[in-house]
Amino acid sequence: MVASEAVPLAKTGGLGDVVGALSRELVCLGHDLRLVLPRYKDSGKLVKDLTESHTLTIPAAPVPIEITIETGTLNDVPLILLRYDPFFDRPGLYGESGRDYPDNLARFALFSRAALEVCRALNWKPDVVHAHDWQAALAVVYLKTLYLSDTWWQSCRALFTIHNLGYQGIFPATEFLLTGLPWSEYTPDRLEFFGQVNLLKGGLVDADMLNTVSPTYAREIQTPDLGYGLAGVLQARKDRLFGIINGIDSEQWNPATDTYLPARYSVKDLAGKRTCKTSLQREMKLPSRKVPLIGVVTRLVSQKGIDLILDILPDLLTLAIQMVLLGSGDPVSEKALTVLQERFPTKFVARLGFDEGLAHRIEAGADLFLMPSLYEPCGLNQLYSLTYGTVPIVRKTGGLADTVSPYRPGAKNDKGTGFVFESPFAEVLYSTILLALQVFRDQPEWQRLMGRGMRQDFSWRHSAREYVKLYEKTVALNQSATDIPPDSFPRGRFRDVGPPSHLSR
Ligand code: ADP
Ligand code: GLC
Repeated sequence: MVASEAVPLAKTGGLGDVVGALSRELVCLGHDLRLVLPRYKDSGKLVKDLTESHTLTIPAAPVPIEITIETGTLNDVPLILLRYDPFFDRPGLYGESGRDYPDNLARFALFSRAALEVCRALNWKPDVVHAHDWQAALAVVYLKTLYLSDTWWQSCRALFTIHNLGYQGIFPATEFLLTGLPWSEYTPDRLEFFGQVNLLKGGLVDADMLNTVSPTYAREIQTPDLGYGLAGVLQARKDRLFGIINGIDSEQWNPATDTYLPARYSVKDLAGKRTCKTSLQREMKLPSRKVPLIGVVTRLVSQKGIDLILDILPDLLTLAIQMVLLGSGDPVSEKALTVLQERFPTKFVARLGFDEGLAHRIEAGADLFLMPSLYEPCGLNQLYSLTYGTVPIVRKTGGLADTVSPYRPGAKNDKGTGFVFESPFAEVLYSTILLALQVFRDQPEWQRLMGRGMRQDFSWRHSAREYVKLYEKTVALNQSATDIPPDSFPRGRFRDVGPPSHLSR
């Protein structure tokens, strides 16, 4: 399992949650896996049994680099940390103060190459290399190029998981030599993309099998709207592209056991949820009022619909509600939120930053959770909300469409678990919130709605089994992935689409 994040070691978003929890669930199911991560600044403090085994020279470009291998266990998962302090002993994972580190290609090329080299050094031969997102995509590419004729690797297959097509790892052409790949790989049907190097594209063209994190997103990324310039490549590989919905780590995210909460609760006894609400109001310095409390926990980026939220807030905050937002990211959005907080101090609090405990307390203490994403590969916060009885308001896209059933007012035997809107316009979001607030006034109906969400099982057990089936399918393949017709590449039919505006995260 090759990834740049895994909880509790490293997390900037859902990737960390997914890699950490999926790995543990696979180990519980009896699979033999090694989780390979870069050794970041604080990793040493978080893994108790970390031991340094030996050094290894990685044939990096332009010169070989000596790294240290550290091994340990992370929540029962055998862990391998690849240590090279000049690259990874930094305050951020990918950048600082909203700016990417300028040497990200070199950092993740080294990581991806070392992830393969370390298997060889430990003589641990995987059936499947499972790589996640652009940061690990080169592991797949190396396997299918530099290591192709190496008999030690011959039986190994590659699964590549796309967590977010909006982040592709795009770098100037001049950096291509740092991949260590021959220039013959820098072509439109390989890693070249509108005159730049695209690492994610390498994973897409080379992996034996591909998946993303919901069935709806698997379809959406094959369209020009959400394909971010790679729809043609994904269409061409659609027979090898699957959607598996993320699960949640029920040890971390369970209102009955959550140690971040001031009180615990379950669908059978909701008293603790009321305590969580008053305690959250106190923590956020909001007056203790019996009004609906709306929660938001998000990266502040346009993907998450932050502009829609900012558009409606001045009107929304004139109503009898309170709202708590935890997020960090785009400085312009941060500033706008701060201004609104000053204007509505008894109704709105924006906490800027990353705070795991507060994220849990918002999920538990709020009545409603707002997630109006423009696109959402899967989304975890709506799953946490459903589990915590905090009714989600979501846009019908990607994993949100696959996990939240729309509440239909007046419908008999309604199966709805949340409020769902489709058109990405502020007025549509606003009227959906008004509908939710109206239903909130009918508390018996509201409790039924909450209960339906809380009784759903989003634990990893089911999704991990889906991954196992996909590994089995991948292992059964007897040919490498060379099934892409030449007219599928951005230089061809999709030349006019253009690359995404936001590149690496
Ligand atoms: P994404 O990965 O696109 O950010 P997800 O919904 O899949 O979206 O996952 C986001 C994860 O990051 C959740 O676990 C959420 O609680 C967490 N998160 C996001 N922003 C913050 C924050 N500011 N503080 C704490 N946790 C956060
Ligand atoms: C990405 C997506 C998010 C998904 C997460 C984990 O960050 O934006 O929707 O839940 O990855 O797969």
